[in-house]
Amino acid sequence: MNNVLLVNASPQGQVSHANQLTLELVASLRRRYPRLELVERDLSAHPLPPLGMDYARALTTATPFDSPEFEVSEALIGELERCDILLIATPMHNFMLPVALKLWIDYVLRAHRTFSSSSEGKAGLLNDRPVYVLVSSGGFHQGKRARQPNFLTPYLRHVLHTLGLFNLNFTYLQGLVFSEGAVRATVEDARARLSLESLFNNLVCA
Ligand SMILES: Cc1cc2nc3c(=O)[nH]c(=O)nc-3n(C[C@H](O)[C@H](O)[C@H](O)COP(=O)(O)O)c2cc1C
Repeated sequence: MNNVLLVNASPQGQVSHANQLTLELVASLRRRYPRLELVERDLSAHPLPPLGMDYARALTTATPFDSPEFEVSEALIGELERCDILLIATPMHNFMLPVALKLWIDYVLRAHRTFSSSSEGKAGLLNDRPVYVLVSSGGFHQGKRARQPNFLTPYLRHVLHTLGLFNLNFTYLQGLVFSEGAVRATVEDARARLSLESLFNNLVCA
């Protein structure tokens, strides 16, 4: 275990609750693997360029992987390929993924490169590795207080499966627009759940 890729899709950047908890996960891994290297892909501090016509054309034609059209895509895929563990911190936006994370997906989920397509469907070409997704939301989409659908989890799970990633753990930080005490409780609950994972059993819980 040497490389962690942290993809943070919150417009709140470093102060995002989900991002802060993922950084605690990194600290916990570092206690176990002191030589751990962290690559942070902050999608709001450093937004990815919008998809252009050149990329769209390259994606649907036989274009060499080292063509300039694939420069951003290859850089992001390289980060994914090199990581031993992928951490994603994402808010729920209108029951779904934020646009910034969807754009990242549009660059990394590439036919003939990260998945193959046949009459039997799509199959991932990446080696499997653990993926921890922390999903934050202002309201509730699970449990007794759920008042909204969650299209984010099934969609993101399908995307990760299509890449070849099946070792997935989703953790939810719900109700983040409520009182300070309620927010603290949801973060503590998420931290306690994650500390049950063997990878993070040295996570410091209050
Ligand atoms: C454009 C937008 C759409 C949002 N849509 C939802 C939503 O559908 N459901 C929900 O519970 N919260 C929604 N929220 C609230 C965010 O999910 C919440 O502020 C965020 O998850 C806070 O997490 P963070 O501290 O990790 O950034 C939305 C926020 C924004 C900015």
